Amino acid sequence: MEIRNAKEQDKGTVLEFCKETFSWGDYIADVWDRWKSAGGLYVIEHDGAVVGMYHIGFFAKEAWLEGMRVHPKYRKKGLGTKMMTHAESVIGSGTVRLVIESQNTPSIQLVRSVGYCIEEEWRLYLAAPEKKSSRATVAAALVSLGLFGSSTYADSWRWLPLDDAEVQKLVRQGRVLVLNEDGRTSSVGILNQSNDFPQTMQLGLVNGTREGMVEILGYVQNKAHETGCEKIQVFAPEKTLLDAGFLEKRSLFYLMKKELGKNL
Ligand SMILES: CC(C)(COP(=O)(O)OP(=O)(O)OC[C@H]1O[C@@H](n2cnc3c(N)ncnc32)[C@H](O)[C@@H]1OP(=O)(O)O)[C@@H](O)C(=O)NCCC(=O)NCCS
Repeated sequence: MEIRNAKEQDKGTVLEFCKETFSWGDYIADVWDRWKSAGGLYVIEHDGAVVGMYHIGFFAKEAWLEGMRVHPKYRKKGLGTKMMTHAESVIGSGTVRLVIESQNTPSIQLVRSVGYCIEEEWRLYLAAPEKKSSRATVAAALVSLGLFGSSTYADSWRWLPLDDAEVQKLVRQGRVLVLNEDGRTSSVGILNQSNDFPQTMQLGLVNGTREGMVEILGYVQNKAHETGCEKIQVFAPEKTLLDAGFLEKRSLFYLMKKELGKNL
């Protein structure tokens, strides 16, 4: 049993056993090349055959674990646990996060067994691109961190820490949407455009008043329509009361976290 950096020739083997990971398939084929060139892509060998993989991304000084897969025939033999332990030895110290769909019991049990806890529950919604008018605008000035109501936001299926500096950066990038009413900002949203999935527009966080959030969603629907995006994913903490007839409520996800010590 060996865990090593992924090589180009591992791709075919991995994609073969990742064809039907979930009922809808898998996304590894879409991200393999980018993860491979970014680094942090590992495979696990068992009896000389590649039977598992995972990726570590480093963002804003935090680590993000993603894409853990074990060949269906080699599950429940401790390989997932070995990859989690390997990841911790590579990362060393600091915050590690990952996200798991709330029905994915094997994964939840696996990460719980190595010390991860749920940090926040997040809901995915879908919306369709549509020509709409909206009173929401792109924020022109700094927006208070408190308005976002969460310490993370989703960006292309990775949850990144949200602090004053991050909000400032997002405002500079023109990615913060606001609804200003009576001189006050009532609602906020963070807009993403994924490199991996260019046809998908994402709202990585939305918070505020019901009316304000609907205006922000309308802005995104219109922008997706104008730019020819095929679909819109919206993420919000489950505690957010997000409710609109045009929104399709989809899966619940657990954002999970572990703080690694200095001397692993
Ligand atoms: C999740 C996954 C990586 C686990 O890999 P694995 O090699 O089977 O995991 P392990 O053998 O190390 O299991 C470790 C623990 O996880 C839990 N676990 C694993 N499979 C489980 C299952 N089918 N049901 C319930 N718990 C399970 C158990 O607590 C297990 O400990 P135990 O064997 O002492 O009971 C594997 O099932 C997989 O590839 N699933 C599909 C892809 C996926 O869901 N990836 C994660 C997406 S975020």
